[in-house]
Amino acid sequence: MLGKALSSCLESREHNVKGLPKEQLDVTNYAQVLDTITAEKPELVIHAAAYTKVDQAESEAELAYLINGYGTENMAVACSKKDIPMLYVSTDYVFDGEQNRPYQPWDRTRPLSIYGKSKLAGERAIQHHLSKFYIVRTSWLYGPHGRNFVDTIRQMALDGKPLRVVSDQFGSPTCTLTLSESIADLITTQRWGMYHGTDGGTTNWYEFAKAVVADLKVKVEPIETKDMPRPATRPKYSVLDKTTLVHTIEREMVPWQEALAMYQSMKSDKQPVKS
Ligand SMILES: NC(=O)c1ccc[n+]([C@@H]2O[C@H](COP(=O)([O-])OP(=O)(O)OC[C@H]3O[C@@H](n4cnc5c(N)ncnc54)[C@H](OP(=O)(O)O)[C@@H]3O)[C@@H](O)[C@H]2O)c1
Repeated sequence: MLGKALSSCLESREHNVKGLPKEQLDVTNYAQVLDTITAEKPELVIHAAAYTKVDQAESEAELAYLINGYGTENMAVACSKKDIPMLYVSTDYVFDGEQNRPYQPWDRTRPLSIYGKSKLAGERAIQHHLSKFYIVRTSWLYGPHGRNFVDTIRQMALDGKPLRVVSDQFGSPTCTLTLSESIADLITTQRWGMYHGTDGGTTNWYEFAKAVVADLKVKVEPIETKDMPRPATRPKYSVLDKTTLVHTIEREMVPWQEALAMYQSMKSDKQPVKS
């Protein structure tokens, strides 16, 4: 989902982008990673591939670590050998959500889930092997080219299904289109390091769902996390402080409501017109 949005965004800025799906570059295959990076000689590698099934990871820990930990280490070692900088996309789920203020890039990590732990392993591999890297932690992604919360909730509303959404997990929804613009700005700076990049503002999943279906006049029922047990524990509060990124790219983040409105109007433009 993010990889495709990033490719389009960077191409629109005249970058020469080579987007490689798993079939062409499996990050768990070190020889393939090194051969590809050697052959392509990129100026920068953007590593947006990941094992992203947060709940399933609890029963597939080995695979999650293989892709997010070992796979990221492969990318980092190959980039280090070829002296190529890298941007790695990470997650708010590296935090435990016990803090009542937005997380800074340097705050203590304590992931609650296998997914969060495996992504943190990836961050550590990058920091261990590379000096020229960007790590961009983001959260609650949605956008074109992937299954996501916005599309799922909207489809459920259109199908007349009941909408029960948790109201006690707080964070920042982020559109892949706005995040791609921030990443595109960041990679021109060569100011290496750890960044937090999400859309602006804070909400909870219930309020987010209400905003998604605001025009449909359907009821959304708030529930608590304990009423919807899931295999992976999520942080209660995972708002990320974006100050470092804002100062580096010299612009504010787009408020999440604005990004959502943009995404939804873009989608409705693409709906077939009924005759
Ligand atoms: N989605 C979110 O809410 C969210 C929030 C915070 C951070 N992030 C991070 O943002 C990044 C992008 O996430 P996304 O939502 O765009 O994820 P996504 O849509 O699931 O894309 C991940 C891609 O990685 C590919 N992949 C899996 N295993 C691979 C391997 N061994 N080698 C190469 N590619 C492999 C997947 O291919 P297959 O589908 O064919 O397996 C998929 O195309 C990830 O690093 C994720 O951890 C996501």
